[in-house]
Amino acid sequence: MAWTDEVIRAARPGPASTVGISEGPSLLIAGPTGTGKTHQAYGAIRALLTARVRLRWEAVTAADLYARLRPRSGHDTERDLQSLARSPLLLLDDLGAAKNSEWTEELTYRLINHRYDHLLPTLITTNLPIAELRAALGDRVASRLAEMTERVILTGPDRRRQRST
Ligand SMILES: Nc1ncnc2c1ncn2[C@@H]1O[C@H](COP(=O)(O)OP(=O)(O)OP(=O)(O)O)[C@@H](O)[C@H]1O
Ligand SMILES: [Mg+2]
Repeated sequence: MAWTDEVIRAARPGPASTVGISEGPSLLIAGPTGTGKTHQAYGAIRALLTARVRLRWEAVTAADLYARLRPRSGHDTERDLQSLARSPLLLLDDLGAAKNSEWTEELTYRLINHRYDHLLPTLITTNLPIAELRAALGDRVASRLAEMTERVILTGPDRRRQRST
């Protein structure tokens, strides 16, 4: 994938013939359900690891993110948010699939804005057509995604249904 090549090019030498990542491009993979977005995103991460890029990476669906960060007593959700926001590589899967509220919009904004400000490589998948990102995610998130990400649009049938017929 062109994106993995770019991330590798942005990498710096690390210990024992590995390379580390500090800044790099981000990628938005869009397309309907079952077209292979999540599959491609993990494939890109695997390609980086295979290319000896050593980095901490985290993957989370947007729905899990909101569930995990919902304020609850005895739990420092702010720290969880910071940990994801600062992860050298983050896969945010299924953005825009969960019901939106002011709270989810603000949380998404804070996460994306941190990664935007620090040029942290971020993989994002979404079922939403590009034209609907702004309405679904809010202006501030959509505007940052437009600037920071390259886009790949996957098309084709739902691979899950294909298999069962
Ligand atoms: N290139 C591929 N080769 C073989 N199987 C694939 C490929 N891409 C995806 N699949 C399989 O097709 C199914 C759907 O893929 P995936 O979960 O990546 O879709 P998705 O676009 O993320 O869907 P959703 O929008 O519902 O999250 C999975 O079972 C996956 O393993
Ligand atoms: Mg998926």
